[in-house]
Amino acid sequence: MKKKLIVVLPAIVLWFSVNSLGQQNTEWVLKGKEKTARVEPTMWGVFFEDINLGADGGIYAEMIKNRSFEFSKPLMGWKVSGPEVKEGSFLVLNESALNANNPRFLRVKAEDASPGGMGISNEGFRGMGIKAGLNYDFSMHYRQTAPGIKLLVELLDETGKPIGKGNLEPTESGKDWHKTSLQIKAGAAAVKGSFRLWITGTGEIDLDQISLFPADTWKGRKGGLRADMVQALADMKPGFIRFPGGCIVEGHELSSRYQWKKTVGPVYDRQLSINRWNAEFAHRPAPDYYQTFGLGFFEYFQMAEDIGAAPLPILNCGMACQFNTAELAPMDDLEPYIQDALDLIEFANGDANTKWGKLRADMGHPASFGLKMLGVGNENWGPQYVERLTRFKAALKAKYPEINLVYSSGTDPEGEKFEYLDKALRGIDADIIDEHYYRRPEWFLQNAARYDRYDRKGPKIFAGEYAAQSDKTVSIANRNNWQTALSEAAFMTGLERNAAVVHMASYAPLFAHTDGWQWTPDLIWVDNLKVYQTPNYYVQQLYSLNKGTTVVPILAAGAAISGRDSLYASAVLDEASGVLIIKIVNASGSEKQQEIRLDGLITIGSKAERISLQNNDLQATNAVAAPVQVKPVSSAYTLKKNKMTLDLAPYSFTVLRIPYKK
Ligand code: AHR
Repeated sequence: MKKKLIVVLPAIVLWFSVNSLGQQNTEWVLKGKEKTARVEPTMWGVFFEDINLGADGGIYAEMIKNRSFEFSKPLMGWKVSGPEVKEGSFLVLNESALNANNPRFLRVKAEDASPGGMGISNEGFRGMGIKAGLNYDFSMHYRQTAPGIKLLVELLDETGKPIGKGNLEPTESGKDWHKTSLQIKAGAAAVKGSFRLWITGTGEIDLDQISLFPADTWKGRKGGLRADMVQALADMKPGFIRFPGGCIVEGHELSSRYQWKKTVGPVYDRQLSINRWNAEFAHRPAPDYYQTFGLGFFEYFQMAEDIGAAPLPILNCGMACQFNTAELAPMDDLEPYIQDALDLIEFANGDANTKWGKLRADMGHPASFGLKMLGVGNENWGPQYVERLTRFKAALKAKYPEINLVYSSGTDPEGEKFEYLDKALRGIDADIIDEHYYRRPEWFLQNAARYDRYDRKGPKIFAGEYAAQSDKTVSIANRNNWQTALSEAAFMTGLERNAAVVHMASYAPLFAHTDGWQWTPDLIWVDNLKVYQTPNYYVQQLYSLNKGTTVVPILAAGAAISGRDSLYASAVLDEASGVLIIKIVNASGSEKQQEIRLDGLITIGSKAERISLQNNDLQATNAVAAPVQVKPVSSAYTLKKNKMTLDLAPYSFTVLRIPYKK
């Protein structure tokens, strides 16, 4: 995470001066026979981190907050109410000797309680999204020595009115825990609903893992993921999913680092952790932000497989976040960290007679997840990082030489720290270097040719986190406006043109809840019921859906088009389907006419498709509750000759799909 301030005024001036630079338009030539690089199938991917309620309260569809009373304040999210509640009616007990991972539970005592007399309600994550007519799966773990208590389970709307209910009578008795469940149909909708349990009868019962999921989860999996959020990812056809972070990998200190082994196996046994974004920003506190790991490493691999994306896990390298504590695991204590990495590969790919492969098979996936890449560290820097990653590299390459390793180049795309790491990583023949840039839109325009000068024979590049900042990094004034998206589209022509060296790229962060975010801008925004796509999302999607297979040059006077007259362009062939795809950004406020000659391809008579993303207002944004201002519009035209004259609207991103004769 960068906390550098960037001066805004000169940057605005720069946006205009970059746009007014340039010369008269010359004809562009597309060289269809000069194939300069293969586009990796992984080229355009996504980066998932549990920030902004990305997982808990987001894609992980659990609606009950603090379902097993393990938050630091055990009743956070819960409220006890009713005229029959007495001292001791609801108690939180801790049985850590019996269950270290999930020690707390709720003990309820009642004496002749009547409906409406003794209740406990849950507020959800910024409320609960409830859809009219949909079934909701309620479940809980319980134990009781003498049955007698009954439960009335209710879904409530914003005013507290019940909009769905069901009765439950726990019947098992004894010392063991049992799971019981019930389906409740919602009769009406609520964006910020809630949930309540009424206790009736006489007795004592222990409750834990009180859970509520919508029945319409992704692929209908019980206890699964929010279908609309996964669908938004699937609609991008991402080449990979980087997971789980981000700073969350590093932790504020080492004890709060992300540990994948705590995220697999039965959900009730996954030890919860405070989310590091809980208190990171004083201006966006989120004291109720925890990680329950319901979206753990198994679910992550499964989601990646579902949507055809390659998994790219990033693991802690023995260093806590250097912006926070910078705590280090001594070199002599690094083995457990390295072992975690080796074991993760076994969990993903090992067969069912290996320890971790067996766990994966027991969780329902006997086949390998086909892991091919692994990241060692996130935004780590300095000699301490190089020392540690060298140990990781030796151990991982010795056992799994086929796994490509991804290394961090720190937090910034230039400067002393970056140069030190870039040199060191090239010195150890790194497979892939992860570069991050959270910069102003002008930086993206100016750096569209960044990779033109990168060594083709050196390590491959992963643009692992990038996003244009309309204000400055970590400012709450940042917006996903059209200016940021357009500058990213321009920059991405440079990534695509340099696919020989850039093998992967992902925008960051991915998700944000409109009522629970810590960081902006973000690619996809959600509330409890809806998802909306930002202009930046559509840029990413257009690149990914039009990835092609092979880069071909598109030139003006023999040079790449990267800012000349405020225009940016790149081109690929999709050799499998015989389609030439040209991407063009007009970053200026005036319309341009551009001639393009297509050399070496037969396209005459082709029925081409033109997809445009455009808005005259660089400040335009999309929002849940407002009409979409920036979204792709498709039109058709027929090519008469191997030459065309295009009108390029002001502030536009154009994708041309032109079938050619193979
Ligand atoms: O994307 C938000 C944060 O930005 C990531 O966690 C971190 O890697 C970067 O600094």
